[in-house]
Amino acid sequence: MSKSFNIITGLFIFTIGFGALSGCKNANTEIVSLDIIIEQKVDSVLTLMTLEEKIGQMTQVRHFYDIQKGDVTTKFIGSVIHTNGLLPGDGALDWQARFTELQKEALSTRLGIPLLFGVDAVHGQNTFQGATIFPHNIGMGATGNSDLVEKAAQITAIEAQATGFNWVFSPCIAIPYNEQWGRVYEAFSESTALTQKLTRASIRGHQGNLVDRTTVMATAKHFIGDGSTDYGVEGGNTTLTANQINERLLPPYRDAVAEGVGSIMASFNTLNNEPLHAHKVLITDTLKTKMGFDGIVLTDWRGYTKYGRNNIINAGIDMVMAVDGDLDFFQASLKSGVEHDSVSIERVNDAVKRILRQKYRLGLFDNPFPDATLVSKIGRSSHRDVARQAVRESLVLLKNNNNVLPIDKVSSKIVVVGEHANNSGLQSGGWTISWQGKAENYKGARTILDGFQKTSKSSIIYDKNATGKHFDADVAVIVVGEKPYAEFMGDVNTNTGFQLTLSEAHQNYIKTYADAGVTTVVVLISGRPLVVTNQIEKVDAFVAGWLPGSEGDGVAEVLFGDYNFKGKLPHSWPNSVDDYKGRFGPNYWDNTIKPLFNLGYGLSYEQGKLN
Ligand code: BGC
Repeated sequence: MSKSFNIITGLFIFTIGFGALSGCKNANTEIVSLDIIIEQKVDSVLTLMTLEEKIGQMTQVRHFYDIQKGDVTTKFIGSVIHTNGLLPGDGALDWQARFTELQKEALSTRLGIPLLFGVDAVHGQNTFQGATIFPHNIGMGATGNSDLVEKAAQITAIEAQATGFNWVFSPCIAIPYNEQWGRVYEAFSESTALTQKLTRASIRGHQGNLVDRTTVMATAKHFIGDGSTDYGVEGGNTTLTANQINERLLPPYRDAVAEGVGSIMASFNTLNNEPLHAHKVLITDTLKTKMGFDGIVLTDWRGYTKYGRNNIINAGIDMVMAVDGDLDFFQASLKSGVEHDSVSIERVNDAVKRILRQKYRLGLFDNPFPDATLVSKIGRSSHRDVARQAVRESLVLLKNNNNVLPIDKVSSKIVVVGEHANNSGLQSGGWTISWQGKAENYKGARTILDGFQKTSKSSIIYDKNATGKHFDADVAVIVVGEKPYAEFMGDVNTNTGFQLTLSEAHQNYIKTYADAGVTTVVVLISGRPLVVTNQIEKVDAFVAGWLPGSEGDGVAEVLFGDYNFKGKLPHSWPNSVDDYKGRFGPNYWDNTIKPLFNLGYGLSYEQGKLN
C-alpha cells in the first residue's frame, strides 16, 4: 500500500495498487477488502466534488464534434465514446495518442479523475481496420460454445485496449423474437437459456479481473425489451407482460449482474408506451435494488433529450450519452433540476459513486493511459485462429442431399458464385469498420473465396453474378445474402428496402445453376434467418453462414470436410413471410406457427465423411 499527497485537494489519497493485496491468503478476503477500500476511496472523493464536477462525471461525449479543446477540463467530462464518425487517427498508436491527450486533460483537473473510453466493439474491435473481427453474436449463438465466446471476448478486450479503450458496449443480450428487427444478429439467440450461458462467458472474457490492462468493462444492452418490440421495430413499443419480461428477458441480466458486469445500457424501446430510459420500476427497483446491480446505467444515443430529461435521472440513469448537441443542455438542465429540487442530490451522488466505483475497479487511477506494447497484438494470427474456429463452429447445415458435402478437394471443378463470396465487407455485416458496415474489402480480412482457393487442390472459378454459366462444374457454391445494415436501418417493416427474402438477383444466381443440373450448394450470409423455403428445396445442400467477420476462409474448411459441422440454429427458421403477419415472429413465442426448422436444428457429416 502506498500513499500519495494530492497537492490541490490537500487530501491524503490512498493509491493502492491491486497487487498490494496479493499477499492475502484468502481470495474472498482479498475481494472484500478491496471492495471496502474502493468504497472508502469513492466516498472520500465524492465529498470533495462540486455539483458541476458531479454532473461532469455523469457526461459522456464523442472525442470529436461534441467537444472542443479544453472542454474535458472545464466541463469535467467523465467519459468519451468512439462510434461512427471521425477516427482518432490512422494507426493504433495515433488512437492511443488522442486518448492519452484527452486523459491528460482530465487528470489535470482539480480532482484528477480519469476518463472512461468506450467503444462499440461488438464483434471484435470492429471500429479499427486490421483488428480481428469475429462472427456477429448470432453466429456465436450458433456455436453454443461458451469457451469460444469467452476467448473471443478476451481477444476483443486486448484489441480494444490496444486502441485506447477501457470499456466496450457489448454484449447485446436481447432476446429477439421477430426477424424483422434490424438488430437480430447483435444478439446470441431467441433462447433465454442459451443467451444466459453466453452472456456469462462474454462478460467473464471481457472483464477478467477488470484491473488487468488487457481487459475492459463490459456493457449488457439494451435494458430491456429491445428485441421484443411489436412487429420487430427498433425502438418501438413492447407489449409484453411483467411475467414474460421476468421469465424470458430478465434472466440474462441476472447472470450479467452475477458475473459482475460493469455497466448496463438502457434501451430505445418503450414498454406499454413508457420509455425504458424513464422506467424507475425496472431500472431502480428491479435492476439496482432487487438484482443488486452496483455498476453504471448508461443511456443510449441522446437518451436524455429523447426520453424525458431529468425523469430519466430520477428513474436511475447514471451516465448520459450527451452527443449530437446534448452536452450543454444536459449539464445545465440537470444542474437546474438539482437546484430546484426536482432531482435529489442523493440521486446524483449515487450516480457518481457508481461511476467512480467502476473507475477504481478498472484500476484507472493507477493506470490511466493506454499500453503501447499491446499494439502488436492487434489482428495477430493467434487471435485470427480463434475467430476462424468460431466461423467454422457457427455454420449450420440445413440440408445435405445425397451427401454432396463435403466437397472433394482433389477432383472437383468448382465454381464459386456471388459477390458475397469475394467481399469481406459483405460477409461481415453492420458494425464493421463503420456503423452501417461496408460493401468492400477491409484490411486483414480473408474472404470466403480466399478459403476455397487456399483449401482446394483444383482450380476455383469465380463467377460474380452467375453470368459465367460454368455448367460443366462438378459443384457450384453459391454465396448469397443480405447487404450490411445496422439498427433501424435494417428493420424490415419501415421502408428500409430490407426484406426477409433473398433479392431477385440472388434467387436467380441459385436458379441459374440449379436449373442447369449442376450440384448446387448455397451458403447464406445473413444477420437473421431468411425465408428461403423455395431455394432450400431447389438445391442439394444449404448452409446458414450468418455474418462470419474477418476470417471468411473458415467456411471452406468445413465445406471441404477438414472439420465437421457443429453449429445449431440459435433461432427457429421461418417457413413463409406470412408467418410474420402478427406481432410475433414464427418462433417459440408464438407456438401456433410451425417453423421450417426448429431452434437447435443442425446436421453434421456422417462418421467417415470427413476428409
Ligand atoms: C445503439 C447502441 C450503441 C450506441 C453508441 C446506439 O444507437 O443503440 O447499441 O452502443 O448507439 O454507438
